[in-house]
Amino acid sequence: MSQFPTHRMRRLRSKQWLRDMVQEHRLSVKDLIYPLFLQEGTNTDTPIKSLPGVSRLTPDLAANTAKQAQDMGIPALLLFGIIPDEQKDEIGSPAFDPNNIVCQGIKAIKEAAPDIGIIGDLCFCEYTDHGHCGPLTEHGDVDNDATIENLGKQAVNLAQAGADIIAPSDMMDGRVAAIRAALDAAGFQHVPVMSYAAKFASSFYGPFREAAGCALGAYPHALKDRKTYQMNPTNTQEALREVEADIAEGADMLIVKPGLPYLDIVYQVKQNYGLPTFAYHVSGEYAMLKAAAANGWIDESLTMMETMLSFKRAGCDGIITYAAMDLAQKL
Ligand code: PBG
Repeated sequence: MSQFPTHRMRRLRSKQWLRDMVQEHRLSVKDLIYPLFLQEGTNTDTPIKSLPGVSRLTPDLAANTAKQAQDMGIPALLLFGIIPDEQKDEIGSPAFDPNNIVCQGIKAIKEAAPDIGIIGDLCFCEYTDHGHCGPLTEHGDVDNDATIENLGKQAVNLAQAGADIIAPSDMMDGRVAAIRAALDAAGFQHVPVMSYAAKFASSFYGPFREAAGCALGAYPHALKDRKTYQMNPTNTQEALREVEADIAEGADMLIVKPGLPYLDIVYQVKQNYGLPTFAYHVSGEYAMLKAAAANGWIDESLTMMETMLSFKRAGCDGIITYAAMDLAQKL
């Protein structure tokens, strides 16, 4: 390519319409997936302090929000269930209850907003009394093979309630195959698995744990972190092997989590495998922007938009973000 003065990059930056004309990546409302936290009861909206603008909602209010999201063109919601501590147990059995809070939420949302997709987050940490993502071994670590069997059951429970997509977020080995087999055996061959294929043991999940009430620590012998199942943030090659394993086991779509600090992983996953790839812009990433904006240090809407565009540039087919509703309004 010939150089200056033949070429001047600034020529195509001189006017807004021209910048629009040569813009390479765009954010659409169809790129956004909105997470919802469900809680029991009626007509109750409980704000989550560390996630400004996000609340735990009872199924009736979640249905209203779902309708708004559908009307704005958001394609799908990602559902999490929060239950009172006294209902939790060692294996997280409320996850199997066909009338649990997520199943209630799915039904209410389906009625109010039949055209929005429902992704069920599949994990046990919201249902176990120790907060880990599956039943424990005698050494206080998560029992892999018992967990994947239980995940299959929970997946079928969600699909029976009407979940359109199952998104396992536990990071057990072999779980995609176990979930696929369980779904197929129960007649849900058509329900896709959107796997959190590369999920890192990240400190950016802090506000979520407040939101979902899944802090660790209730059992003295239980491990105090999730580093034996979630990935070490230092590892790239291992992330690609995790993704490969999930694809081989039948994953239809992939999630990389967290998002912004792991854009290199997002990029490589999309380049290497080409499956629909999503980033989870997690609670801590969202909270950082909200906090800086609340202090007047940055412009919230511009930085949020710029963040979303970085995901598009890295190759994402979509972004799971707590800012989805705000962004949709602007788009
Ligand atoms: C666990 C789960 C977590 C998040 C989503 N699902 C927390 C964890 O792994 O400890 C975090 C999401 C966020 O921080 O926004 N099933």
